[in-house]
Amino acid sequence: MNSKILKSGHIKLYKRENSKFWQMKIKLPKQKAIRSSSGTKILKEAEKIALNNYSLLNKENKIKIKKTLNNIFKKMHLVETADLNKKEIEFILDEAQKFISFNKMKIKKNNLLEGRTIFNLFFEDSTRTRTSFEVAAKRLGADLINVAVKDSSINKGETLLDTMTTINSMNPDVLIIRHPDEGISKKISMNVDACVINAGDGSHEHPTQALLDALTIKNRFKNFNKLLIAICGDILHSRVARSNIIILSKLGAKINVIGPKEWLPKNIKKLPVTVFTDMKKGLKNCDIVMMLRIQKERIVGKIMPNQKTYFNKYGLDYNKLKYAKENAFVMHPGPMNRGFEIDSKLADDVTRSLIQEQVAMGVAIRMACLVILTKNRDNVLKS
Ligand code: CP
Repeated sequence: MNSKILKSGHIKLYKRENSKFWQMKIKLPKQKAIRSSSGTKILKEAEKIALNNYSLLNKENKIKIKKTLNNIFKKMHLVETADLNKKEIEFILDEAQKFISFNKMKIKKNNLLEGRTIFNLFFEDSTRTRTSFEVAAKRLGADLINVAVKDSSINKGETLLDTMTTINSMNPDVLIIRHPDEGISKKISMNVDACVINAGDGSHEHPTQALLDALTIKNRFKNFNKLLIAICGDILHSRVARSNIIILSKLGAKINVIGPKEWLPKNIKKLPVTVFTDMKKGLKNCDIVMMLRIQKERIVGKIMPNQKTYFNKYGLDYNKLKYAKENAFVMHPGPMNRGFEIDSKLADDVTRSLIQEQVAMGVAIRMACLVILTKNRDNVLKS
């Protein structure tokens, strides 16, 4: 016998003409076949050697394939959720998962971003996002500079782009930008060398908020496919709603949006959602009720609804929560208008409310984003 198949399509033993030694041909998934001598003339020994080699090479190959798959997110900016596909979102969530336990340790410090310079540039008020990025950057060992916009040269007439160009000349690694103008982060990302993260641009997008919401949901439900999620309230002015609709639907969840007619965007039918103006109908069978902040600062030139009237119709309390599934969870990106869009007691009820968990997940998500984007930028600079 001059040849023997050990594992169909994977291992073949054979003898060359004029040679008494058994040769091995090992074929691994996604790799060219490797041919080498077993170093023995005895078939039984050759079989053992070939199986051992196959096992070792297969293990290495699996690690290699996993690394390739892991490296699916190659972008150096995070400005729009529309830029992310399902695999990229899942990759960011998986990376963030690693930081959840890290953030519960006594010493919360590593050196993954040691020596890196990160700027927090917030042109709008923020508590959660700004401090969350600051905590994330510092836990990764980076130097974070908070630019106090009220003290910046913008007030002397400098354009935003000039401010960004000035900061860009200091060789930062990441710029985190919150600004009232839609699309501003994207514009800046095209004019600087650093990674740019959109920390909220007007009513447009808030990608890291949607990612942290997705991580919070994933840790409760594991699978998005069977979930029905209600997003309720001021949909029109909410960047959180827009980013969540995109991210959660890409992950497989079904979305109901519920709100007063005048607070539903004109193009709402183009989004992957079912629209309701009635809480009772919209909350039916929902696993999660995500409430939105009424964006008072963006409701200009329009009449603000009366707080009591609005709360009676659209504010979430224990009674309206009964319309959803029995153990449905409540979420809110914060900051909350207690008694306007959400009942204060319900918001603080840790058996139903995931609001504080969302904040904790925010740090993990932002750590993951900072690490991934800077790594991707390093690769871009190398190539
Ligand atoms: N959720 C959110 O963006 O909160 P801040 O406005 O406090 O950053």
